[in-house]
Amino acid sequence: MQNFDYMTPTRLIFGEGVISELPEVMSKYGKKVLLTYGGGSIKKLGLYDRVRELLADWEIYELSGIQPNPKYDPSVLDGVKICKENHIDVILAVGGGSVLDCSKAIAAGAKYDGDPWDLISYKVKAQAALPIVDIITLAATGSEYDCGGVISRTETNDKIGYMDPHLYPAVSFLDPTYTFTVSKKQTAAGCADAMNHIMEQYFCEDSTLQNDGFMEAGLKSLMVNAKKCLENPEDYTARAEMMLDCTYGCNAIYSLGNSYSGWPCHGMEHALSAYYDITHGEGLAIITPRWMKHILNERTVDRFVKYGVNVFGINADQDKFDIAEQTVDATYRFFESIGIPMHLRDVGIDESRIGEMAHHVAENEGLENAWVPLKEQDIANIFTASL
Ligand code: NZQ
Ligand code: ZN
Repeated sequence: MQNFDYMTPTRLIFGEGVISELPEVMSKYGKKVLLTYGGGSIKKLGLYDRVRELLADWEIYELSGIQPNPKYDPSVLDGVKICKENHIDVILAVGGGSVLDCSKAIAAGAKYDGDPWDLISYKVKAQAALPIVDIITLAATGSEYDCGGVISRTETNDKIGYMDPHLYPAVSFLDPTYTFTVSKKQTAAGCADAMNHIMEQYFCEDSTLQNDGFMEAGLKSLMVNAKKCLENPEDYTARAEMMLDCTYGCNAIYSLGNSYSGWPCHGMEHALSAYYDITHGEGLAIITPRWMKHILNERTVDRFVKYGVNVFGINADQDKFDIAEQTVDATYRFFESIGIPMHLRDVGIDESRIGEMAHHVAENEGLENAWVPLKEQDIANIFTASL
């Protein structure tokens, strides 16, 4: 059991119709609001109109068009400019993880005099950030309950996970009915992302029985509920359970006291979506089984056995390496069964930039310190096996 120092200051307001509490919540943070959103899904949902109606007495500025894999230029830079020029009090992020992540970077940049990239690249530590309230519309990242945001910078092929305690949302609204319209592709990708968040915490040197049980239950719940959501997108209970499973995923509550794994699949996936702008959860689903195969050895096998037996119900009465192989296969088959393309070529990635991406990951993601250390050649091999 490792030492830890843990606090999540975010207030979660969960359930159908909770948006009616928005005015009461927003009244604590001031009258000048930057409303951030993506490419229009919130307008189709009717959520945009509802927010404008509820906040009719507020002075609202807008930043729209935030893309998946949110971009530093223009979105973060534009948002910071609006905040500074208009003395914004609070950011209201309405959308998926990309909108919220972008808003977090804006919140920090708005309180910093220099180039916001100094903060995102950890050259300078943030001293403050604007408060963020969010209405999350896609179950996946857990950004609504963590202090991270992932920002892409196209010209340098960087995709950086920027974490800082100032970036916890003050309040997150989670209404599962807003996720009814999420496409099958994004539902499946969200499930894969959240499952990988758990696996990144499960596959480590030192874990507790409590954490293992918590994580195994989380994985099982995600698999069951994602399938229900795909079959019936308006299944409230399934959408609600999946939403909460995802919310737990990224804020470390699953692994308090565990040793740190280094989050290797995320380190590798960030390069794929930085270079090719693919959907994060799909990239993770493709890499994960190949990474598992790559690191399976005498030192790691027992962890695979526990995961395979407890999550997939694999018969424990077999040779441990046989169980581990079946575990990797079951992981692959599950992702395939929810419709995820399981080869890099299926998402437009060929071998041409594997060397370059592996070098980028090795230089920037610190995976030599992962549970099973990965050098540049290991990363290239995992990418190649994923083709
Ligand atoms: O842009 P709009 O029109 O809103 O459409 C979005 C987007 O096209 C759409 N969408 C969102 N809610 C919807 C909806 N469509 C219909 N109905 C709804 N209710 O879905 C598409 C994808 O949205 P996006 O926000 O990109 O998805 P997600 O929430 O999966 O976020 C992915 C981003 O989060 C980062 C990823 O790297 C990626 O950039 N991550 C953030 C993390 C964090 N902050 O802790 C952790 C994760 O590991 C992850 O890296
Ligand atoms: Zn993720």
